Amino acid sequence: MRILVTGGAGFIGSHVAEALLAAGHEVRVLDALLPAVHRGTPYLPAEIDFRVGDVRDPAAVADALRSVDAVSHQAAMVGLGLDLDDAPDYVGCNDLGTAVLLAAMARAEVGRLVLAGSMVVYGEGHYTCGEHGRVVPGPRPAADLESGRFEPRCPGCGQDLTPGQVAEEAAPDPRNVYAATKLAQEHLAGAWARTVGGTATSLRYHNVYGPRMPRDTPYSGVASIFRSALEAGRAPRVFEDGGQRRDFVHVADIARANVAALGRDGAGLRAYNVGTGRPRTVGQMAAALADAHGGPEPVVTGQFRLGDVRHITASPARLQDELGWRAEVPFEAGMAEFATAPLR
Ligand code: UD1
Repeated sequence: MRILVTGGAGFIGSHVAEALLAAGHEVRVLDALLPAVHRGTPYLPAEIDFRVGDVRDPAAVADALRSVDAVSHQAAMVGLGLDLDDAPDYVGCNDLGTAVLLAAMARAEVGRLVLAGSMVVYGEGHYTCGEHGRVVPGPRPAADLESGRFEPRCPGCGQDLTPGQVAEEAAPDPRNVYAATKLAQEHLAGAWARTVGGTATSLRYHNVYGPRMPRDTPYSGVASIFRSALEAGRAPRVFEDGGQRRDFVHVADIARANVAALGRDGAGLRAYNVGTGRPRTVGQMAAALADAHGGPEPVVTGQFRLGDVRHITASPARLQDELGWRAEVPFEAGMAEFATAPLR
């Protein structure tokens, strides 16, 4: 197939573009090279047809879609952002950009789409209370966090909860602007697929890390922040008590999931969690990275960010069962590589 990768010069997009090329596809990249995450000419293999352009620009998108069989839509503004002043940019890049792309795909009769989704659409996720069974806790009260109580409580009885793995059927619960834009992207893709009879596959990424991850900015994930600190000789600063769980998935596994998703049969939108299924705590991740880097040791600060959720862990069973994907990079090996891998 000839595949257009939007955002294909970025961290995840460039790995997706390379994996598609290695799988025998022809690859075209459309990337706006947004200054927040790009400096200089991006690294991309010479076989890739690289075009600078913004997904919000209908002319650039129409041009990039010529003779294309499928689109891998990775262009997005990521992270939690600073404050609500970021909201128009998030909505513009993520939702307006997706709408422009979908309209152009409908005109060009390109019927296959893979979308970079996010686990962030689930909010706090899935918990079980000994007394009340499955519950969905609300945002953690500031007073709890200030007193060092970080685990969410049962909305029924206030008791401790056991976190579980979220499946794709879970009701979405987007809790910040970024999350809202990632969910809206899926709804837009679903509407497009129904209208044109297309195939849309959303890959809900967990916490992605690996070579070429951008250095720390207010928009970076925790792995990049810790890695950048270590490089500068500073200790990674672990918030809360370090017991918050995430599923750290290597970018090479994300790229493989994208290759698999492009081959999915069936019309309509279908979402898949992409994670290893073996969550770690942020404290464990900091320790593994610091160890592989040769120090300095992480510091657990007790600081917290009000918008953070405690545990985000989802089940990759659907992706494994339906598309035969499995995470291949073990946590220890991936972190050891990431400790010295080049950042951007
Ligand atoms: C991250 C992504 C989000 C993505 C989601 C997928 C970012 C900013 N967020 O959300 O886009 O959709 O994964 O699951 O990329 N922490 C520290 N020290 C720090 C910074 C953070 O301990 O210096 C902690 C935070 O308190 C949090 C955890 O690390 O508990 C993860 O933070 P982060 O990577 O920013 O965001 P996620 O909520 O996992």
